[in-house]
This record gives sequence, C-alpha cells and structure tokens, in this order.
Amino acid sequence: MKNASLILDRDYAVSKVDKRVFGSFLEHLGRAVYTGIYEPGHPTADENGLRRDVIDLVRRLNVPIVRYPGGNFVSGFKWEDSVGPDRPKRLDLAWKTTEPNSFGLHEFVDWCKKAGAEPMYAINLGTRGPMEAKEVVEYSNHASGTFLSDLRVKNGAKDPFGIKLWCLGNEMDGPWQMGSKTAYEYGRVANEASKMMKWVDPSIETVACGSSGSGMPTFGEWEYRMLDECYDNVDYVSLHRYYGNPHNDTPDFLASTMDLSDFIKTVACICDSIKGKKHSKKQVNLSLDEWNVWYHSHSDDQTIYKNEPWGTALHLLEDVYNFEDALLVGLMLITILKNADRVKVACLAQLVNVIAPIMTRKGGGAWAQTTFYPLMQASTYGRGVSLQTIVQCEKSDTKHYTDVPAVDAAAVLGDDGSLTVFAVNRSLDEDTALSLDLRGFGEVKFTAHSVLTHSDMKAVNTESNPNEVIPGDVKPDLTEGKVLLPKASWNVLRFGKE
Ligand code: AHR
Repeated sequence: MKNASLILDRDYAVSKVDKRVFGSFLEHLGRAVYTGIYEPGHPTADENGLRRDVIDLVRRLNVPIVRYPGGNFVSGFKWEDSVGPDRPKRLDLAWKTTEPNSFGLHEFVDWCKKAGAEPMYAINLGTRGPMEAKEVVEYSNHASGTFLSDLRVKNGAKDPFGIKLWCLGNEMDGPWQMGSKTAYEYGRVANEASKMMKWVDPSIETVACGSSGSGMPTFGEWEYRMLDECYDNVDYVSLHRYYGNPHNDTPDFLASTMDLSDFIKTVACICDSIKGKKHSKKQVNLSLDEWNVWYHSHSDDQTIYKNEPWGTALHLLEDVYNFEDALLVGLMLITILKNADRVKVACLAQLVNVIAPIMTRKGGGAWAQTTFYPLMQASTYGRGVSLQTIVQCEKSDTKHYTDVPAVDAAAVLGDDGSLTVFAVNRSLDEDTALSLDLRGFGEVKFTAHSVLTHSDMKAVNTESNPNEVIPGDVKPDLTEGKVLLPKASWNVLRFGKE
C-alpha cells in the first residue's frame, strides 16, 4: 500500500471551468457521420435519418459542444456542397474517400439540437479564403434579407443557426494538409478571415490554428509568428495532442500527461509574450480541440486503403479502446481541469466510430467504449470552479518522463456547493491510501465514490459485451481521513454538506 495526500482549499481557485472543455468532434471521416450519427433506414433513425440510439449515448456523455466538419477534411471542403437540394459527390483528398455530401450543415445543426450540443464550425482556410469564410457566417448567422441568408431560409431554416465558435482552418502547419502554409501566410489569412467573419457577426469567437502537435519542427515559432499577425482578431489558439502505447510500456504511456501539461503551459506563455509585445489588454486562451489516444487502428487503415480505394463510410480510425486508454483519458481530463484558467475549449477527438468513445454497427447497435466513462463523469460533475490541488505522493521515472507522480488529481467546487475530486492512481501494482486535507469546507460528507478499474489493462467493451469496463460505486469510506484508490484506477469522489 502506498500513501499519498491531497490538500485543497475552498478559496484557492484555478478558474471557473468553461463547460466547453467537455466538447467533442465529428469529422467527415470513416463512419463518424455515415452509419455513425446518420443512417437513414436504421431501425432507430428519426425522420431525418439521425440514429436515435447514438443521440441517446451522446446525451449520456453530456457533450456541450461539437466541432465539425473537420479536421483534415475541411481543407478541401466547399460548404456550399453541403446545403440545398443538389449535393455533389466529391473526392476527399484528406482521407482518400468519396464524400456524398448527403449530410451537411443543416443536418448537423439539427443533430446538435437533438444531441443537446452547440455547433463549433471549422472553415476551410487551406484551399479557400476569407471571402468563403465570411459567406458561411452570413449564410448561418445573418437573419435574412441577403442572397445567402435568404438561401438558408429557402433551404428550410427560417431562424439563423447562431453558431458562436468558429475554427479558422485546421492544422495549417502540417504538410499533409491541403493548402498548408507558413506561419506568416497563415497568420495573415487567419487575421483577414476572422476580421471579416466578425464584421458579419460581432458576437462570434474564432480559434486560430496552433501547431498540429508539440512534436512539429516549427512548434513554438509557428504560434509566435502566426499570432503576431492575427492576435487582435482571434480569441483562441488551437492545440492538438494524441498519445499511444505502441511499445506496450504502460507506465510511460500513463505518464504522457506530463507532456500535455508542458504543451499547454508553453502555448499559454507564447500567447502572453505576444500580448506583452503588442501592449495588448486582451488575453488569447486555448482550445485543445483535438485530444485523445490514437494508435490502435494505424495498420488496419493501410489495408483498408489498399482494398477499398475512394470508398465511402470506410472503417477508418476505428480504435478499440482498452482499460488503460480510459485511464489516460481520465488523466488528460484532470490536466485540462487543472489548466482551466487557460483551456476554455477542449474536444475529445472524435465522437462516433472514428477514434471515438461511441461505436456503432451499420444496421446494428451502438455501444460505449471504455473511454466514454471518464468524459461522461467529468462532464457531469466537473462543472463549477476548478480548485488548486496539492498532491504529495511517490514519484518515479519512466522511459520519457521523470518525477511522474503516482497519483494525479483535479477538484471542482460545483455551483451547488458540492465538491468533486477526480483522481487517478497510476501505480500498476499498489493501492494508495489518499489522505484528504479539505481546508475551508467545514464539515463535509463523503457521499459517493465511483471507481473505474480492471484486472486486465487491455480489457475492452464490445457490442456483445458492452459492460466489461464500466465504473462501479464503492462504499464512500473516509476512515482516518483516508480514501482508498485501488491500483490502476480512475476515481470520482463526491462530497456534500453534512
Ligand atoms: O482526428 C483525426 C485527424 O487528426 C484530424 O482530421 C486532423 O486534424 C488530425 O491530424
């Protein structure tokens, strides 16, 4: 048994948690849309072909915002193809597939309403420019009386969509991106696009593309140079980060959030250095709009491409997530909450079938992967004020990281006065007794303790066995002020008034 301690003070806040940090992402990629959220003729499909079984799961997941339509896809996308009665089929060069465009902007806004989420819409700044960006804002958000807004009305939407958050392209630093750019080129076009979009609708917010990952050779310099061009006209910088465990080194994999934490802090510093350089009063914050575990499907995807060139709704990026992946997702959520002062938007990439917490079978069922549960619980109990957590525990080294704490934790003081602690015990072989020092709370009652754990780190959920890895309630036990965190576990500790 290891020992650890957690100190919390009711008055030591990091920041109010922006609920949009529990967001997700749907791209026109693989089966995310077609046979994922949209499948006309499916036994649960509504009158518009939206799968109700999937909507039910998304509602359980409690996702407040969904980014769409890409991803890499967006850099070859014409938004006009996805509205109105005539929908051209196009080659999608990002994922080497054929896009039918039968699901588009109106269908997405309709789906968001039914799923209880706000849309976050990405424009194409790879192969298109500020004019098309301005036009899609006008089509979506302008009430009526212009060609584009009246076209929306004609296409069936009398009321404006009111889309508030817009991504200025996607991963524009990546050579794999259609129309990739240098930091200066991108910064200029992002500035002009954002300016024109906000002239159409001053209530919107925009996200400039940061590096597509902290491992990019231009990381840091990209953020600095492009922000130097567009700082005054954008609100957030994007961060994308995926981790994997291809060499089956679980301690090193579970330590990956050390890197995520550094990544977040570095980009925040770069934003602030531009703020200082410009003598600006405005603070640009962070949108971690792609984050997840992604590696299981890499080799299968190559076979699919070989066997089904230019297909539609291919089984691409269908990672089957295991128990250790759920632990890392929990650790990533803890890292996001601990950085709530700067991370205002975060999207688990993605939502359905494509590196997703929700899986479907064409014509068949829908089920929750292991990674579904930490996001569901964080989104349900993580709304309020993030508190500073001081954790004292054993630390160890892994292949890529030093001083990795055995326990990581975040705490949120809910609007109703309840307190929730999210904690992961990284140790694979020892339980931990976590002593709690809750300062300034008075008498509190330990009301619930939910644990996600499993004896097999590689255990998965499947359509026929969807409950292999699910959280379970244990008796809330605070004997001598200590809570037991089982080895390799994600814990949600809930406290209320006596
Ligand atoms: O989420 C899958 C892909 O990962 C996205 O299309 C892209 O933005 C990133 O590289």
